[in-house]
Amino acid sequence: MSTVQHPVEVDHVTKTFRRHHDRATSLKQFVAGGRRRTYDEFVALDDVSFNVRRGEVFGVVGHNGSGKSTMLKIMAGILHPNKGEVRVHERMSALLELGAGFHPELSGRENVFLNAALLGMTRKEITARYDEIVDFSGLDDDFLDTPVKTYSSGMYVRLAFSIAINVEPELLIIDEILAVGDIDFQRKCTERFLEFRNAGRTTVLVTHDMNSVRTMCDRAVWLDHGKLRGTGEPGEIVDGYTESMTGSTDRVAKLGSYREGSGELQFTAARMLVDGEPRRSLRTGDDLVLELELTATSPIDDPAVSVTVMTASGLMLSEPCTRDADIVLGRVDDRRALTVRLPDLALLPGEYQVHCTVSDARRHHIFDRVHSAVTFDVMAGTPLEQFGTVSLRPQWTVE
Ligand SMILES: Nc1ncnc2c1ncn2[C@@H]1O[C@H](COP(=O)(O)OP(=O)(O)O)[C@@H](O)[C@H]1O
Ligand SMILES: [Mg+2]
Repeated sequence: MSTVQHPVEVDHVTKTFRRHHDRATSLKQFVAGGRRRTYDEFVALDDVSFNVRRGEVFGVVGHNGSGKSTMLKIMAGILHPNKGEVRVHERMSALLELGAGFHPELSGRENVFLNAALLGMTRKEITARYDEIVDFSGLDDDFLDTPVKTYSSGMYVRLAFSIAINVEPELLIIDEILAVGDIDFQRKCTERFLEFRNAGRTTVLVTHDMNSVRTMCDRAVWLDHGKLRGTGEPGEIVDGYTESMTGSTDRVAKLGSYREGSGELQFTAARMLVDGEPRRSLRTGDDLVLELELTATSPIDDPAVSVTVMTASGLMLSEPCTRDADIVLGRVDDRRALTVRLPDLALLPGEYQVHCTVSDARRHHIFDRVHSAVTFDVMAGTPLEQFGTVSLRPQWTVE
């Protein structure tokens, strides 16, 4: 009997994390230095096995916290399982969480060299590919000489994807990262990705976008609280997963049209209030209040919350953020409600939508972004204007 060697073999993998709690039970004890250090073991992956076959696009689906990123980090060799093993038989490059693998103080240029070296390229190979990597990323030369900590999340992704795909891996591992760049760049990535696939190379892909699982993947696996719920035909996996989601997490699943992010914090409610009442429409000149609720699955310090106000066709009008207003949320470890008031609304009649985003303080890492979390109509009000999107508050004088 001959055994086929698959590019990735996941063999009875169990991964546990220790979660530490620093606990001083009383102030006195705390002052006396008698704090107890306790921890519990958390099973992030529980006896998971599957193979990824050569040349396929393999999807990994599951709700937030189900162990997808942990699985990919084990494949990439960043984490090690407690039991079982993952065997990778191909030259791999991995596009994990935003900025993972980037050194914030180094310039873009230095990071290209550092990253490519980590992926196993020689200095000569990197130099030969450098222009192509930069070209593909579309970043300006000036930016390549500045530290990547000054980059926007979009710039991060451009550079990271460009490196990952241009080092000619045989196996590409992607953790839901593509949704962040702009449309043009996404199209470029998709094209390059299809080339990669058509060349018979292998991809493992985590995504929340069930349409891409259906259309792009050859097979998929479903993780649920660290356990394998199924492996197989993408359509069946997606159906099973979606059914389980709509059954259990009603309120969250109904919020917005599409969501992305790593999930430590999630929006569990978002609505518009006018004069203290939930509403779906208002008038130019009204005060709009957005009421948001966040729920933590693990504690996060000082997240940033922003609301992106857009026209129905997707033109971004404004993106107020707690950071810009110097609002500090502190540690969020349970539920947190917040509101943002947009007084004397300048929007003219039309349909609008609001995306809600919660990210780390530097706005690099997205915990949750809910697209079209709130949609509303604006009707004619004050000032009364006929055309356009916003009122610029005109003040006419006639001599
Ligand atoms: N380094 C870590 N220490 C402790 N817990 C962790 C660590 N990394 C992940 N976890 C926990 O393991 C679970 C699975 O996380 P993850 O693999 O990121 O899930 P997913 O990518 O499916 O959202 C989550 O509950 C997460 O909080
Ligand atoms: Mg993840």
